[in-house]
Amino acid sequence: MAEYQGNRDVLALLKEAQEKPGYLAAELLQQIARDCRIPVGHLYGVATFYGFLDTRPVGRNVIRICQSVPCYLKEVDAVAKAIEDELGIKPGEITGDGRFSLHRVNCLGACDHAPAMMVNGRVHVDLTPSSVIDILGEYR
Ligand code: FES
Repeated sequence: MAEYQGNRDVLALLKEAQEKPGYLAAELLQQIARDCRIPVGHLYGVATFYGFLDTRPVGRNVIRICQSVPCYLKEVDAVAKAIEDELGIKPGEITGDGRFSLHRVNCLGACDHAPAMMVNGRVHVDLTPSSVIDILGEYR
C-alpha cells in the first residue's frame, strides 16, 4: 500500500486500496486511517466524492455511465435506460448474479464523443441504446 505523504496522496492511496477487494469497505477505511494516521472522516469524504471509488460492493463488471451535461445533451439517459432494462438494475445496484453493477458518474473525459460510459476502466463512446447492448455482450 502506498505511503501517505499528504492530501494529494489520499486519492492514489484509496484507488490502490480498492483494487483487490473492488470497493472500500468501512473496515478497510478504518484500517487505512489507523495505518496512515488520517482521519477516517476525511477518507470517507474522498471515497464518496470521487465517482471512481466505491464504498459499497460492486459487480464483477463495473459500468460507470456519464451523467454530465454534454452526455446528457446527447441523450445519455436513453442509453442508461437501455442498460437498466437489459440488466434489470438501477444505478447503485448489482445484478442478481453479481456480474454487473451500474453507477452514474460525472464526466469521463470523453465529451467529444458523448455519450460515454466506462466498463472496468475501458471507455466506450458514441453510445446509442442499441450499441450499448452489444457492448454489454462483450462482458457477459
Ligand atoms: S460529459 Fe460525458 S464524458 Fe464528458
